[in-house]
Amino acid sequence: MNPHVPVMLSEILDILELHVAKDRAALFIDATLGGGGHSFAILEKYPNMHLVGFDQDECARKLAGERLVEFGDRVRIVGENFSEMPDFLSDSEKQEGACGVLFDLGVSNMQLTTPERGFSYQNDGPLDMRMNTSSDLFRAVDIVREYDERELTRIFRDYGEERHAFAIARSIVRARASGNVPATSMELTSLIRKTLPAPVQRKMGTHPARRVFQALRIAVNSELDVIPRGLLGAYEVTRGGGVIIVISYHSLEDRIVKRTFRSWADENYGHMLIRKPTLPTDAERESNRSSRSAKLRAFILNDIKEDYRGSGGTLR
Ligand SMILES: C[S@@+](CC[C@H](N)C(=O)[O-])C[C@H]1O[C@@H](n2cnc3c(N)ncnc32)[C@H](O)[C@@H]1O
Repeated sequence: MNPHVPVMLSEILDILELHVAKDRAALFIDATLGGGGHSFAILEKYPNMHLVGFDQDECARKLAGERLVEFGDRVRIVGENFSEMPDFLSDSEKQEGACGVLFDLGVSNMQLTTPERGFSYQNDGPLDMRMNTSSDLFRAVDIVREYDERELTRIFRDYGEERHAFAIARSIVRARASGNVPATSMELTSLIRKTLPAPVQRKMGTHPARRVFQALRIAVNSELDVIPRGLLGAYEVTRGGGVIIVISYHSLEDRIVKRTFRSWADENYGHMLIRKPTLPTDAERESNRSSRSAKLRAFILNDIKEDYRGSGGTLR
């Protein structure tokens, strides 16, 4: 298991510097605690801050708990999906309101490099891919085993932007008919390799299984569905003048974040910090592979906060 290096940390600290007073008590919410890397740096820099961290992954919560132990009762860890954020803050936390919420979307290095979790096409393991392993969600292997050709094609195309979605879906259904359902990451990778002709694989510019693995992971964890609800929850729990920061790792996530922030700006809830997303520096991209596709967007709420529920909001 490889440790997770927090992505675009100095950019996040710079944003907080502009919007969070160092000497005032404040609440910060880390919606995706992971290994606790961002949270650690934020708590260290702001001694009067307390933090609520969400993660649906039990191993992540354990790791983060160990990493953040020195901050004692300044940290509260919640084992829930960030889409339910407002329901898991105490009355006093809600009343205080967060000065900021951070979403660092997707999976952590810890998840990717633990073969038993099945997230990676580079390590062999069972095709699981659930972030919340205590849930009775479908695992990736259930999707591969049970979805029909049309559904598989839709998932690979819509969640993986895989151009060869249909060919791969057809191969899976054929393998199933002959009793060879891929049940591990290497079995699925090798089926994809056998399906796509060598020149096609060479032209893909990436590992031939990358997009299918991304698609399955998004489908298993409903990753795109929870983002709009998570962002609205963050708006609800952030106080006027606070900031919502999102790091996304592929265009499907970024599109949702961009559209949401634009519609909030149109409704006059606040403004985007900058219109274009911030990208990692070349040095960070070199030293931390996980940062390569990262895009950071931030939204600053107006000092006087509108109630989006009064203007057609959709959370409740
Ligand atoms: C990229 S990692 C975060 C890394 C963290 N910022 C750090 O510095 O260590 C994303 C984490 O968010 C968690 N996660 C992803 N989607 C989630 C959701 N909808 N609700 C709760 N946790 C989620 C994953 O389990 C993973 O641990």
